[in-house]
Amino acid sequence: MMGFPIGWDPVTGMPARPYVGSELHWFPNTGREAGPVRVLITGITGFAGSHLAELLVADGRFQVYGLHRTRSGMHNIRHLVPRLHLLECDLRDPSSVERVVGEVRPHWVFHLAAQSFVPSSWTAPYETMDTNVLGQLNLFEAIRKHRLDCRVQVACSSEEYGLVYAHEVPIREEQPLRPLSPYAVSKITQDFLAYQYHQSYGLDVVRTRAFNHAGPRQAEPFVISNFAKQIAEMERGVRPPVLHVGNLDARRDFTDVRDIVRAYRLALEHGAPGAVYNIASGETHTIRSVLERLVALSRVRVEVRVDPARLRPSDVPILLGDASRFRACTGWKPEIPLEQTLRDTLNYWRQTVAA
Ligand code: GDD
Repeated sequence: MMGFPIGWDPVTGMPARPYVGSELHWFPNTGREAGPVRVLITGITGFAGSHLAELLVADGRFQVYGLHRTRSGMHNIRHLVPRLHLLECDLRDPSSVERVVGEVRPHWVFHLAAQSFVPSSWTAPYETMDTNVLGQLNLFEAIRKHRLDCRVQVACSSEEYGLVYAHEVPIREEQPLRPLSPYAVSKITQDFLAYQYHQSYGLDVVRTRAFNHAGPRQAEPFVISNFAKQIAEMERGVRPPVLHVGNLDARRDFTDVRDIVRAYRLALEHGAPGAVYNIASGETHTIRSVLERLVALSRVRVEVRVDPARLRPSDVPILLGDASRFRACTGWKPEIPLEQTLRDTLNYWRQTVAA
């Protein structure tokens, strides 16, 4: 077992050396081998994956590899395809994961691929566990098999905290985990599997618990994207002006996806091996207030109607994160205000609906 290098606190995972400006604590290839830095993104065709690929491609120092499934839509990354190395691979298939990981031999891995929609985890719990838990196990085993010296970011989730009482916010990483969905259980398993592989084998993982993120390209079922799409369709006259909603009393901590992927990169540049970090804005909003702000940006008058099919067997009542551990380690703070995220998402759907 490798354990923690000297200078890292094994309990909190915090670096003994504090963040000092933009200095890199660790960069792949430094003193290791010549050549470009190979980065592998699982879930590259998805929402966060496509924004992360864009960020890394723009940097110019990375060779960006991405895994996609046969059926994955390419619309999110079409503009980047000439600058990416795409490999077909289903994470649920151990032999194909082992093959592609051996081909790429990445220095950095961003593990973003997942079944990420909470309600689908009630209707398809087996698929959620299979993709999220076994998919990660296959990835870790492939890295171990090929004895790769790489850093792995694991996209965990604030949903892991689940039931949080009023006196427990803002939520710190030490908060007890009280999951309220099969999805949350799958993310706790990913989180703890990463911890265990670090402790048992010295796998260099950094666990990020991102709170809700939103922005252009987010899939249609997620709340901001869904409301924005409905509004864009009403504006275009292809949907009656009745906006279907679920639980408007829930409170969420939203960060723009472009700030989130910047955080993911910083996590691998500065994060302590094995550590876990919240990534959050530190503000919480009711879904009702988000809806009102989106409607205020629109050109239509809407009637809001609760659709019972959108209510969940149990819904996390409040998420409000404390990202001070991550800020101390990396200097990260969100830069894009919610208002701009809402405007950009609505414009994204206006263009998509018009196309
Ligand atoms: N999707 C959806 N659609 N949610 C609605 C609606 C609706 O019409 N109306 C109200 N909501 C409420 C949900 O009940 C929930 O409380 C909140 O809006 C946010 O729902 P989602 O956007 O579906 O996200 P989530 O909070 O369940 O999960 C997201 O955030 C996690 C991090 O906390 C996902 O992105 C997860 O993948 C992510 O891990």
